[in-house]
Amino acid sequence: MKNNVEQAKGKLGVLMPGMGAVATTMVAGVAAVKKGLAQPIGSLTQMGSIRLGKRTENRQPKIKEFVPLAALEDIVFGGWDVYSDNMYEAAVKAKVLEIGMLQQIKEELEAIKPMKAVFDKSYITNLDGQNIKHAATKWDLVKAVMDDIENFRDANDCARVVMVWCGSTEKYIETSEVHETIEAFEQGLRNSDPAISPSMIYAYAALKLGVPFANGAPNLTCDIPALIELAKETGTPISGKDFKTGQTLMKTILAPGLQARALGIRGWFSTNILGNRDGYVLDHPDNFKTKEVSKLSVLEDILQPDINPELYSELYHKVRINYYPPHGDNKESWDNIDIFGWMGYSMQIKINFLCRDSILAAPIVLDLALFMDLAKRANMSGIQEWLSFYFKSPQTAPGLRPEHDIFKQLIKLQNTLRHIMGEDLITHLGLDYYQELIETL
Ligand SMILES: NC(=O)c1ccc[n+]([C@@H]2O[C@H](COP(=O)([O-])OP(=O)(O)OC[C@H]3O[C@@H](n4cnc5c(N)ncnc54)[C@H](O)[C@@H]3O)[C@@H](O)[C@H]2O)c1
Repeated sequence: MKNNVEQAKGKLGVLMPGMGAVATTMVAGVAAVKKGLAQPIGSLTQMGSIRLGKRTENRQPKIKEFVPLAALEDIVFGGWDVYSDNMYEAAVKAKVLEIGMLQQIKEELEAIKPMKAVFDKSYITNLDGQNIKHAATKWDLVKAVMDDIENFRDANDCARVVMVWCGSTEKYIETSEVHETIEAFEQGLRNSDPAISPSMIYAYAALKLGVPFANGAPNLTCDIPALIELAKETGTPISGKDFKTGQTLMKTILAPGLQARALGIRGWFSTNILGNRDGYVLDHPDNFKTKEVSKLSVLEDILQPDINPELYSELYHKVRINYYPPHGDNKESWDNIDIFGWMGYSMQIKINFLCRDSILAAPIVLDLALFMDLAKRANMSGIQEWLSFYFKSPQTAPGLRPEHDIFKQLIKLQNTLRHIMGEDLITHLGLDYYQELIETL
Protein backbone atom coordinates (compact mmCIF):
# COMPACT_ATOMS: atom_id res chain seq x y z
CA MET A 1 0.00 0.00 0.00
CA LYS A 2 1.31 3.44 -0.89
CA ASN A 3 0.51 6.63 0.87
CA ASN A 4 2.12 10.03 1.07
CA VAL A 5 1.03 11.19 4.49
CA GLU A 6 3.60 12.78 6.71
CA GLN A 7 3.71 11.22 10.17
CA ALA A 8 2.26 13.23 13.08
CA LYS A 9 5.56 14.05 14.77
CA GLY A 10 5.85 16.68 17.50
CA LYS A 11 3.18 18.74 19.20
CA LEU A 12 -0.05 19.94 17.62
CA GLY A 13 -1.37 23.34 18.72
CA VAL A 14 -5.17 23.61 18.64
CA LEU A 15 -6.22 27.26 18.73
CA MET A 16 -9.83 28.25 19.23
CA PRO A 17 -11.30 31.71 18.80
CA GLY A 18 -14.10 31.47 21.38
CA MET A 19 -13.47 29.68 24.67
CA GLY A 20 -17.06 29.18 25.82
CA ALA A 21 -19.18 26.10 26.49
CA VAL A 22 -18.12 23.99 23.50
CA ALA A 23 -14.39 24.76 23.65
CA THR A 24 -14.08 24.27 27.42
CA THR A 25 -16.08 21.02 27.31
CA MET A 26 -13.78 19.67 24.63
CA VAL A 27 -10.56 20.65 26.40
CA ALA A 28 -11.85 19.38 29.75
CA GLY A 29 -12.82 16.09 28.10
CA VAL A 30 -9.39 15.61 26.60
CA ALA A 31 -7.76 16.34 29.98
CA ALA A 32 -10.13 13.86 31.66
CA VAL A 33 -9.47 11.17 29.05
CA LYS A 34 -5.72 11.60 29.47
CA LYS A 35 -6.12 11.07 33.22
CA GLY A 36 -8.34 8.03 32.73
CA LEU A 37 -11.36 9.82 34.24
CA ALA A 38 -13.62 9.62 31.17
CA GLN A 39 -14.05 8.06 27.74
CA PRO A 40 -13.99 10.10 24.49
CA ILE A 41 -17.51 9.03 23.51
CA GLY A 42 -18.86 10.48 20.28
CA SER A 43 -15.41 10.97 18.79
CA LEU A 44 -14.79 9.01 15.60
CA THR A 45 -11.05 9.63 15.74
CA GLN A 46 -10.83 8.12 19.23
CA MET A 47 -13.51 5.42 19.23
CA GLY A 48 -14.51 4.77 15.60
CA SER A 49 -13.29 1.91 13.46
CA ILE A 50 -13.15 1.42 9.71
CA ARG A 51 -13.60 -1.61 7.50
CA LEU A 52 -10.80 -2.29 5.05
CA GLY A 53 -10.92 -4.61 2.05
CA LYS A 54 -13.61 -7.22 1.46
CA ARG A 55 -16.01 -8.26 4.21
CA THR A 56 -14.37 -11.66 4.16
CA GLU A 57 -11.02 -10.19 5.19
CA ASN A 58 -12.28 -9.15 8.62
CA ARG A 59 -10.05 -6.09 8.79
CA GLN A 60 -11.64 -3.45 11.03
CA PRO A 61 -8.95 -1.33 12.71
CA LYS A 62 -9.63 1.69 14.90
CA ILE A 63 -9.42 4.85 12.81
CA LYS A 64 -6.64 6.22 15.02
CA GLU A 65 -4.63 3.06 14.37
CA PHE A 66 -5.24 3.25 10.63
CA VAL A 67 -4.40 6.90 9.86
CA PRO A 68 -1.55 8.81 11.52
CA LEU A 69 -3.33 11.24 13.82
CA ALA A 70 -1.80 13.41 16.54
CA ALA A 71 -2.05 11.66 19.91
CA LEU A 72 -4.04 13.39 22.66
CA GLU A 73 -0.80 13.61 24.69
CA ASP A 74 0.71 15.75 21.91
CA ILE A 75 -2.02 18.39 21.77
CA VAL A 76 -1.59 21.85 23.28
CA PHE A 77 -4.68 24.05 23.53
CA GLY A 78 -5.01 27.81 23.33
CA GLY A 79 -7.39 30.47 22.10
CA TRP A 80 -8.96 33.87 22.28
CA ASP A 81 -12.06 35.19 24.01
CA VAL A 82 -13.68 38.56 24.63
CA TYR A 83 -13.92 37.57 28.30
CA SER A 84 -10.71 37.10 30.29
CA ASP A 85 -11.78 33.98 32.24
CA ASN A 86 -9.30 31.13 32.07
CA MET A 87 -10.62 27.78 30.84
CA TYR A 88 -11.42 26.57 34.33
CA GLU A 89 -13.47 29.68 35.18
CA ALA A 90 -15.17 29.59 31.77
CA ALA A 91 -16.02 25.88 32.17
CA VAL A 92 -17.50 26.51 35.64
CA LYS A 93 -19.64 29.35 34.24
CA ALA A 94 -20.74 27.28 31.25
CA LYS A 95 -22.22 24.73 33.71
CA VAL A 96 -21.91 21.84 31.27
CA LEU A 97 -19.66 19.62 33.37
CA GLU A 98 -19.99 18.76 37.04
CA ILE A 99 -17.81 20.72 39.40
CA GLY A 100 -16.38 17.52 40.88
CA MET A 101 -15.02 16.55 37.49
CA LEU A 102 -13.70 20.04 36.77
CA GLN A 103 -11.81 20.13 40.06
CA GLN A 104 -9.88 17.02 39.07
CA ILE A 105 -8.54 18.76 35.96
CA LYS A 106 -8.43 22.28 37.39
CA GLU A 107 -4.69 22.77 36.99
CA GLU A 108 -4.69 21.93 33.26
CA LEU A 109 -7.69 24.16 32.60
CA GLU A 110 -6.48 27.11 34.65
CA ALA A 111 -3.25 27.18 32.67
CA ILE A 112 -5.16 28.08 29.48
CA LYS A 113 -5.86 31.80 29.40
CA PRO A 114 -7.54 33.51 26.49
CA MET A 115 -5.57 35.87 24.29
CA LYS A 116 -7.20 39.22 23.53
CA ALA A 117 -9.96 38.80 20.96
CA VAL A 118 -10.69 40.52 17.67
CA PHE A 119 -14.20 41.72 18.36
CA ASP A 120 -16.77 43.97 16.76
CA LYS A 121 -19.97 44.53 18.67
CA SER A 122 -21.87 45.26 15.48
CA TYR A 123 -21.50 41.54 14.66
CA ILE A 124 -22.57 40.24 18.09
CA THR A 125 -24.77 42.76 19.86
CA ASN A 126 -25.45 40.64 22.92
CA LEU A 127 -21.82 40.35 24.12
CA ASP A 128 -19.86 42.90 26.12
CA GLY A 129 -16.37 41.57 26.94
CA GLN A 130 -13.31 43.70 27.63
CA ASN A 131 -10.53 41.29 26.62
CA ILE A 132 -10.26 42.86 23.21
CA LYS A 133 -7.55 43.97 20.80
CA HIS A 134 -7.49 47.60 19.73
CA ALA A 135 -5.77 48.54 16.50
CA ALA A 136 -5.92 51.26 13.87
CA THR A 137 -7.19 49.03 11.05
CA LYS A 138 -8.43 45.49 10.42
CA TRP A 139 -5.10 44.87 8.66
CA ASP A 140 -3.34 45.57 12.00
CA LEU A 141 -5.71 43.15 13.70
CA VAL A 142 -4.72 40.45 11.23
CA LYS A 143 -1.07 41.08 12.03
CA ALA A 144 -1.80 40.87 15.75
CA VAL A 145 -3.54 37.49 15.33
CA MET A 146 -0.66 36.22 13.20
CA ASP A 147 1.74 37.27 15.97
CA ASP A 148 -0.42 35.43 18.52
CA ILE A 149 -0.30 32.26 16.44
CA GLU A 150 3.46 32.43 15.97
CA ASN A 151 4.14 33.26 19.61
CA PHE A 152 1.89 30.39 20.70
CA ARG A 153 3.66 28.01 18.33
CA ASP A 154 7.11 29.03 19.63
CA ALA A 155 6.18 29.14 23.31
CA ASN A 156 4.66 25.65 23.17
CA ASP A 157 7.16 24.15 20.76
CA CYS A 158 4.42 23.10 18.32
CA ALA A 159 5.35 21.35 15.11
CA ARG A 160 1.94 22.22 13.64
CA VAL A 161 -1.10 24.36 14.47
CA VAL A 162 -4.79 24.16 13.50
CA MET A 163 -7.60 26.60 14.26
CA VAL A 164 -11.26 25.78 14.99
CA TRP A 165 -13.75 28.65 15.33
CA CYS A 166 -15.72 28.00 18.54
CA GLY A 167 -16.84 31.62 18.88
CA SER A 168 -20.40 32.90 18.96
CA THR A 169 -22.55 33.14 15.86
CA GLU A 170 -22.05 36.47 14.10
CA LYS A 171 -24.89 38.43 12.52
CA TYR A 172 -26.14 37.40 9.10
CA ILE A 173 -24.26 38.84 6.13
CA GLU A 174 -24.04 37.84 2.49
CA THR A 175 -21.01 37.70 0.24
CA SER A 176 -20.23 41.12 -1.24
CA GLU A 177 -17.56 42.68 -3.45
CA VAL A 178 -14.91 42.89 -0.75
CA HIS A 179 -15.13 39.10 -0.31
CA GLU A 180 -14.69 38.27 -3.99
CA THR A 181 -10.90 38.25 -4.47
CA ILE A 182 -7.80 38.19 -2.27
CA GLU A 183 -6.88 41.68 -3.53
CA ALA A 184 -10.30 43.15 -2.72
CA PHE A 185 -10.24 41.49 0.69
CA GLU A 186 -6.76 42.82 1.51
CA GLN A 187 -7.78 46.29 0.42
CA GLY A 188 -10.85 45.91 2.62
CA LEU A 189 -8.63 44.99 5.58
CA ARG A 190 -6.60 48.18 5.08
CA ASN A 191 -9.80 50.24 4.82
CA SER A 192 -11.43 48.40 7.76
CA ASP A 193 -14.37 47.51 5.53
CA PRO A 194 -17.41 46.83 7.75
CA ALA A 195 -18.27 43.71 5.71
CA ILE A 196 -15.14 41.96 7.02
CA SER A 197 -16.21 40.23 10.22
CA PRO A 198 -13.94 39.28 13.15
CA SER A 199 -14.13 35.58 12.25
CA MET A 200 -12.82 36.42 8.76
CA ILE A 201 -9.85 38.19 10.35
CA TYR A 202 -8.89 35.08 12.32
CA ALA A 203 -9.41 32.91 9.24
CA TYR A 204 -7.31 35.14 7.01
CA ALA A 205 -4.48 35.21 9.59
CA ALA A 206 -4.58 31.42 9.90
CA LEU A 207 -4.62 30.77 6.15
CA LYS A 208 -1.77 33.24 5.52
CA LEU A 209 0.34 31.12 7.89
CA GLY A 210 -0.82 27.83 6.36
CA VAL A 211 -2.81 26.96 9.50
CA PRO A 212 -5.90 24.80 8.69
CA PHE A 213 -9.15 26.53 9.65
CA ALA A 214 -12.48 24.87 10.53
CA ASN A 215 -15.58 26.93 11.21
CA GLY A 216 -17.96 25.62 13.89
CA ALA A 217 -20.50 28.44 13.60
CA PRO A 218 -22.79 29.29 10.69
CA ASN A 219 -21.02 32.61 9.90
CA LEU A 220 -19.66 33.04 6.37
CA THR A 221 -16.05 33.27 7.68
CA CYS A 222 -13.95 31.23 5.20
CA ASP A 223 -16.89 30.46 2.91
CA ILE A 224 -16.09 33.40 0.63
CA PRO A 225 -14.20 33.35 -2.70
CA ALA A 226 -11.26 35.39 -1.36
CA LEU A 227 -10.49 32.98 1.47
CA ILE A 228 -11.15 29.87 -0.63
CA GLU A 229 -8.60 31.24 -3.08
CA LEU A 230 -6.16 32.03 -0.26
CA ALA A 231 -6.52 28.50 1.12
CA LYS A 232 -5.59 27.08 -2.28
CA GLU A 233 -2.72 29.51 -2.71
CA THR A 234 -1.18 28.67 0.66
CA GLY A 235 -1.97 24.92 0.45
CA THR A 236 -4.20 25.04 3.51
CA PRO A 237 -7.32 22.99 4.32
CA ILE A 238 -10.56 24.79 5.26
CA SER A 239 -13.94 23.43 6.33
CA GLY A 240 -17.28 24.55 7.77
CA LYS A 241 -19.93 25.51 8.65
CA ASP A 242 -21.77 25.03 11.95
CA PHE A 243 -21.20 21.91 14.06
CA LYS A 244 -23.89 19.32 13.40
CA THR A 245 -25.36 18.50 16.81
CA GLY A 246 -28.78 18.16 18.44
CA GLN A 247 -31.83 18.63 16.32
CA THR A 248 -30.06 18.86 12.96
CA LEU A 249 -28.09 15.71 13.72
CA MET A 250 -31.41 13.92 14.29
CA LYS A 251 -32.85 15.41 11.11
CA THR A 252 -29.99 14.17 8.96
CA ILE A 253 -30.32 10.71 10.51
CA LEU A 254 -34.11 10.44 10.12
CA ALA A 255 -34.85 12.24 6.85
CA PRO A 256 -32.59 10.01 4.70
CA GLY A 257 -34.43 6.96 6.11
CA LEU A 258 -37.87 8.31 5.25
CA GLN A 259 -36.67 9.37 1.84
CA ALA A 260 -35.02 5.98 1.25
CA ARG A 261 -38.42 4.29 1.76
CA ALA A 262 -40.17 6.80 -0.53
CA LEU A 263 -42.36 8.08 2.29
CA GLY A 264 -43.81 11.56 1.82
CA ILE A 265 -43.37 14.49 4.21
CA ARG A 266 -45.87 17.34 4.45
CA GLY A 267 -44.46 19.28 7.34
CA TRP A 268 -41.54 19.39 9.73
CA PHE A 269 -41.87 21.79 12.63
CA SER A 270 -38.77 22.12 14.81
CA THR A 271 -38.48 24.17 17.94
CA ASN A 272 -35.73 24.48 20.53
CA ILE A 273 -35.30 25.97 23.97
CA LEU A 274 -31.85 26.59 25.35
CA GLY A 275 -30.37 28.83 27.99
CA ASN A 276 -26.63 29.06 27.48
CA ARG A 277 -24.63 32.02 26.15
CA ASP A 278 -25.04 30.66 22.62
CA GLY A 279 -28.82 30.85 23.15
CA TYR A 280 -28.47 34.40 24.45
CA VAL A 281 -26.50 35.50 21.36
CA LEU A 282 -29.03 33.76 19.11
CA ASP A 283 -31.82 35.63 20.86
CA HIS A 284 -30.88 38.61 18.71
CA PRO A 285 -32.69 38.45 15.33
CA ASP A 286 -29.56 39.23 13.23
CA ASN A 287 -27.64 36.35 14.79
CA PHE A 288 -30.66 34.01 14.71
CA LYS A 289 -30.99 34.62 10.97
CA THR A 290 -27.46 33.21 10.40
CA LYS A 291 -28.41 30.07 12.33
CA GLU A 292 -31.83 29.75 10.71
CA VAL A 293 -30.38 29.76 7.20
CA SER A 294 -27.92 27.07 8.24
CA LYS A 295 -30.61 24.86 9.81
CA LEU A 296 -33.19 25.25 7.05
CA SER A 297 -31.14 24.07 4.10
CA VAL A 298 -30.81 20.53 5.43
CA LEU A 299 -34.18 19.00 4.46
CA GLU A 300 -34.39 20.47 0.97
CA ASP A 301 -31.03 19.01 0.11
CA ILE A 302 -31.78 15.55 1.48
CA LEU A 303 -35.31 15.26 0.08
CA GLN A 304 -34.78 17.03 -3.24
CA PRO A 305 -38.40 18.04 -3.89
CA ASP A 306 -37.53 18.89 -7.50
CA ILE A 307 -36.81 15.21 -8.18
CA ASN A 308 -39.66 13.85 -6.00
CA PRO A 309 -42.43 16.48 -6.22
CA GLU A 310 -45.19 13.96 -5.29
CA LEU A 311 -43.49 13.32 -1.97
CA TYR A 312 -41.91 16.60 -0.93
CA SER A 313 -43.11 19.58 -2.97
CA GLU A 314 -45.56 20.66 -0.26
CA LEU A 315 -43.12 20.30 2.62
CA TYR A 316 -43.53 23.10 5.17
CA HIS A 317 -40.34 23.41 7.21
CA LYS A 318 -40.09 25.74 10.19
CA VAL A 319 -37.29 26.14 12.73
CA ARG A 320 -37.51 28.18 15.94
CA ILE A 321 -34.92 28.77 18.66
CA ASN A 322 -36.01 30.25 21.96
CA TYR A 323 -33.75 31.53 24.72
CA TYR A 324 -34.86 29.95 28.00
CA PRO A 325 -32.29 30.44 30.81
CA PRO A 326 -33.47 27.66 33.21
CA HIS A 327 -32.40 24.98 30.71
CA GLY A 328 -28.77 26.21 30.47
CA ASP A 329 -26.74 24.09 28.06
CA ASN A 330 -29.33 21.29 28.20
CA LYS A 331 -31.13 22.15 25.03
CA GLU A 332 -34.53 20.64 24.51
CA SER A 333 -35.90 20.24 21.04
CA TRP A 334 -39.27 19.16 19.73
CA ASP A 335 -39.97 18.00 16.23
CA ASN A 336 -43.37 17.32 14.81
CA ILE A 337 -43.17 15.55 11.49
CA ASP A 338 -46.25 15.00 9.33
CA ILE A 339 -45.55 12.17 6.96
CA PHE A 340 -47.71 10.17 4.55
CA GLY A 341 -47.51 6.66 3.16
CA TRP A 342 -49.28 4.18 0.88
CA MET A 343 -52.22 5.85 -0.90
CA GLY A 344 -51.50 9.13 0.87
CA TYR A 345 -52.48 8.06 4.40
CA SER A 346 -51.09 10.43 7.06
CA MET A 347 -48.91 9.60 10.04
CA GLN A 348 -47.03 11.63 12.60
CA ILE A 349 -43.65 11.35 14.25
CA LYS A 350 -42.79 13.30 17.42
CA ILE A 351 -39.27 13.69 18.67
CA ASN A 352 -38.45 15.24 22.01
CA PHE A 353 -34.67 15.34 22.32
CA LEU A 354 -33.32 16.35 25.71
CA CYS A 355 -29.79 16.83 24.60
CA ARG A 356 -26.65 18.41 25.96
CA ASP A 357 -25.43 20.71 23.27
CA SER A 358 -21.79 20.97 24.20
CA ILE A 359 -21.53 17.27 25.02
CA LEU A 360 -22.48 16.60 21.40
CA ALA A 361 -20.28 19.37 19.99
CA ALA A 362 -17.06 18.67 21.96
CA PRO A 363 -16.05 15.47 20.12
CA ILE A 364 -16.69 17.22 16.81
CA VAL A 365 -14.14 19.93 17.67
CA LEU A 366 -11.55 17.32 18.58
CA ASP A 367 -12.16 15.26 15.43
CA LEU A 368 -12.04 18.32 13.20
CA ALA A 369 -8.77 19.48 14.73
CA LEU A 370 -7.20 16.05 14.21
CA PHE A 371 -8.60 15.47 10.71
CA MET A 372 -7.73 18.98 9.50
CA ASP A 373 -4.17 18.37 10.68
CA LEU A 374 -4.19 15.02 8.86
CA ALA A 375 -5.47 16.71 5.69
CA LYS A 376 -2.61 19.18 5.79
CA ARG A 377 -0.05 16.40 6.21
CA ALA A 378 -1.71 14.56 3.29
CA ASN A 379 -1.20 17.68 1.12
CA MET A 380 -4.91 18.36 0.82
CA SER A 381 -5.88 22.01 0.55
CA GLY A 382 -8.97 24.15 0.05
CA ILE A 383 -12.47 22.96 1.01
CA GLN A 384 -12.45 19.58 2.79
CA GLU A 385 -15.87 18.34 1.75
CA TRP A 386 -15.18 14.90 3.23
CA LEU A 387 -15.65 16.54 6.65
CA SER A 388 -19.29 17.46 5.82
CA PHE A 389 -20.17 14.71 8.31
CA TYR A 390 -19.52 17.22 11.10
CA PHE A 391 -21.40 20.24 9.74
CA LYS A 392 -24.98 21.49 9.55
CA SER A 393 -24.26 23.52 6.48
CA PRO A 394 -21.30 21.89 4.74
CA GLN A 395 -19.05 24.15 2.74
CA THR A 396 -18.79 22.93 -0.85
CA ALA A 397 -17.24 24.17 -4.06
CA PRO A 398 -19.32 27.02 -5.53
CA GLY A 399 -22.35 25.67 -7.39
CA LEU A 400 -22.21 22.21 -5.80
CA ARG A 401 -25.13 20.96 -3.78
CA PRO A 402 -23.97 20.01 -0.26
CA GLU A 403 -24.51 16.44 0.92
CA HIS A 404 -26.47 16.38 4.19
CA ASP A 405 -27.33 12.68 4.50
CA ILE A 406 -25.19 11.56 7.43
CA PHE A 407 -24.71 8.06 6.04
CA LYS A 408 -23.45 9.31 2.68
CA GLN A 409 -21.24 11.76 4.56
CA LEU A 410 -19.76 8.90 6.59
CA ILE A 411 -19.08 6.82 3.47
CA LYS A 412 -17.30 9.81 1.95
CA LEU A 413 -15.25 10.39 5.09
CA GLN A 414 -14.22 6.75 5.35
CA ASN A 415 -13.40 6.45 1.66
CA THR A 416 -11.27 9.57 1.93
CA LEU A 417 -9.31 7.98 4.77
CA ARG A 418 -8.89 4.80 2.68
CA HIS A 419 -7.78 6.91 -0.28
CA ILE A 420 -5.26 8.85 1.81
CA MET A 421 -3.78 5.59 3.07
CA GLY A 422 -3.70 3.89 -0.35
CA GLU A 423 -6.39 1.31 0.53
CA ASP A 424 -9.12 0.14 -1.88
CA LEU A 425 -12.29 2.23 -1.74
CA ILE A 426 -15.40 0.36 -0.65
CA THR A 427 -18.42 0.48 -2.95
CA HIS A 428 -20.55 -2.00 -0.96
CA LEU A 429 -21.20 -3.82 -4.24
CA GLY A 430 -19.62 -7.07 -3.08
CA LEU A 431 -20.65 -8.99 -6.23
CA ASP A 432 -17.04 -9.71 -7.12
CA TYR A 433 -16.50 -11.88 -4.09
CA TYR A 434 -20.10 -12.90 -3.29
CA GLN A 435 -20.16 -15.44 -6.10
CA GLU A 436 -16.84 -16.95 -5.00
CA LEU A 437 -18.17 -17.26 -1.49
CA ILE A 438 -21.31 -19.14 -2.61
CA GLU A 439 -19.25 -21.45 -4.79
CA THR A 440 -16.98 -22.43 -1.91
CA LEU A 441 -19.94 -23.45 0.27
N1 LIG B 1 -23.13 23.65 21.22
C1 LIG B 1 -23.52 23.18 20.08
O1 LIG B 1 -24.07 22.12 20.00
C2 LIG B 1 -23.24 23.94 18.83
C3 LIG B 1 -23.66 23.38 17.65
C4 LIG B 1 -23.40 24.03 16.46
C5 LIG B 1 -22.75 25.23 16.48
N2 LIG B 1 -22.38 25.79 17.64
C6 LIG B 1 -21.75 27.08 17.59
O2 LIG B 1 -20.49 27.01 18.24
C7 LIG B 1 -20.22 28.29 18.78
C8 LIG B 1 -19.82 28.12 20.23
O3 LIG B 1 -20.93 27.65 20.99
P1 LIG B 1 -20.89 27.71 22.57
O4 LIG B 1 -22.09 26.98 23.06
O5 LIG B 1 -19.55 27.34 23.06
O6 LIG B 1 -21.13 29.26 22.80
P2 LIG B 1 -20.58 30.16 24.00
O7 LIG B 1 -21.36 31.42 23.94
O8 LIG B 1 -20.55 29.42 25.27
O9 LIG B 1 -19.07 30.43 23.59
C9 LIG B 1 -18.71 31.26 22.53
C10 LIG B 1 -17.57 32.14 23.02
O10 LIG B 1 -17.09 32.89 21.92
C11 LIG B 1 -16.67 34.13 22.43
N3 LIG B 1 -16.54 35.03 21.30
C12 LIG B 1 -17.50 35.66 20.60
N4 LIG B 1 -16.95 36.41 19.63
C13 LIG B 1 -15.62 36.22 19.71
C14 LIG B 1 -14.52 36.73 18.97
N5 LIG B 1 -14.71 37.56 17.96
N6 LIG B 1 -13.28 36.32 19.32
C15 LIG B 1 -13.09 35.47 20.37
N7 LIG B 1 -14.10 34.98 21.10
C16 LIG B 1 -15.35 35.36 20.77
C17 LIG B 1 -17.74 34.48 23.44
O11 LIG B 1 -17.28 35.44 24.36
C18 LIG B 1 -18.02 33.13 24.09
O12 LIG B 1 -17.25 32.92 25.27
C19 LIG B 1 -21.46 29.15 18.56
O13 LIG B 1 -21.29 29.91 17.40
C20 LIG B 1 -22.52 28.13 18.33
O14 LIG B 1 -23.60 28.63 17.54
C21 LIG B 1 -22.61 25.16 18.83
